[in-house]
Amino acid sequence: MSTTEQRVAVVTGAARGIGAATAVRLAAEGRAVAVIDLDEAACKDTVDKITAAGGKAIAVGADVSDEAQVEAAVARIVAELGAPTILVNNAGVLRDNLLFKMSVSDWDTVLNVHLRGSFLMTKAVQKHMVDAGFGRVVNLSSSSALGNRGQANYSAAKAGLQGFTKTLAIELGKFGITANAVAPGFIATEMTKATADRVGMGFDDFKKAAASAIPVQRVGEPEDIANAIAFFTGEAAGFVSGQVLYVAGGPLD
Ligand SMILES: NC(=O)c1ccc[n+]([C@@H]2O[C@H](COP(=O)([O-])OP(=O)(O)OC[C@H]3O[C@@H](n4cnc5c(N)ncnc54)[C@H](O)[C@@H]3O)[C@@H](O)[C@H]2O)c1
Repeated sequence: MSTTEQRVAVVTGAARGIGAATAVRLAAEGRAVAVIDLDEAACKDTVDKITAAGGKAIAVGADVSDEAQVEAAVARIVAELGAPTILVNNAGVLRDNLLFKMSVSDWDTVLNVHLRGSFLMTKAVQKHMVDAGFGRVVNLSSSSALGNRGQANYSAAKAGLQGFTKTLAIELGKFGITANAVAPGFIATEMTKATADRVGMGFDDFKKAAASAIPVQRVGEPEDIANAIAFFTGEAAGFVSGQVLYVAGGPLD
């Protein structure tokens, strides 16, 4: 790559929340960004934010758990932005319930989006990274990987992503590709707001209660996670691979 050529980053689930903040941050770092989410029109805000700041981005509608849609999305990104060499597997959903009430479809949906989606996206993008001799993969795990009541599906998926990340690091390292996981604690987004709604609490009270149990005494913001992802995707982070970074305002492990 010449020094003037822009690297192409793909961020899934980037219409809002952590993915949107990450797309904006990576664009500010000089990357051209493909903003993927289920609904292409919903990506417009993120793309507009990037282009208004002088960056380059396109909106791409795709369900990351659907193989054909993933293949088509990556082909479009290659044609419109260039070969992607940075991938952030961020798309996610919750279907919380205690095990005895969890439906098979709640299990499948969560495993399909987080695990199958990350697998399909990485498989589709890795060949471009291998060709370039450079790649950065960041997978979104969670503090829930350590176990969390009501999240048998989600914690299994998020722990699974840690194993997936370490295997990618081992297999792809020789091609100049690193793979790392960022595991957020409580981050204020639509996802945690939906949890507050589900347990019948106002979001402000819910955040206050969460903050009181966090050493830094605040909940996280999407930008806190985008900052860690910017580090892992940076040019200088080539010797950091197979790691899981908990970004949770305090130690968890
Ligand atoms: N918010 C938190 O506290 C928290 C904590 C730990 C981990 N995480 C993880 O961070 C990631 C982002 O979370 P968030 O809080 O920003 O969530 P969010 O719900 O605000 O955003 C998730 C985005 O993913 C998209 N998405 C869902 N399924 C998709 C699919 N099949 N294909 C493409 N896009 C899809 C949604 O449309 C949405 O725009 C998720 O993987 C989540 O599990 C979040």
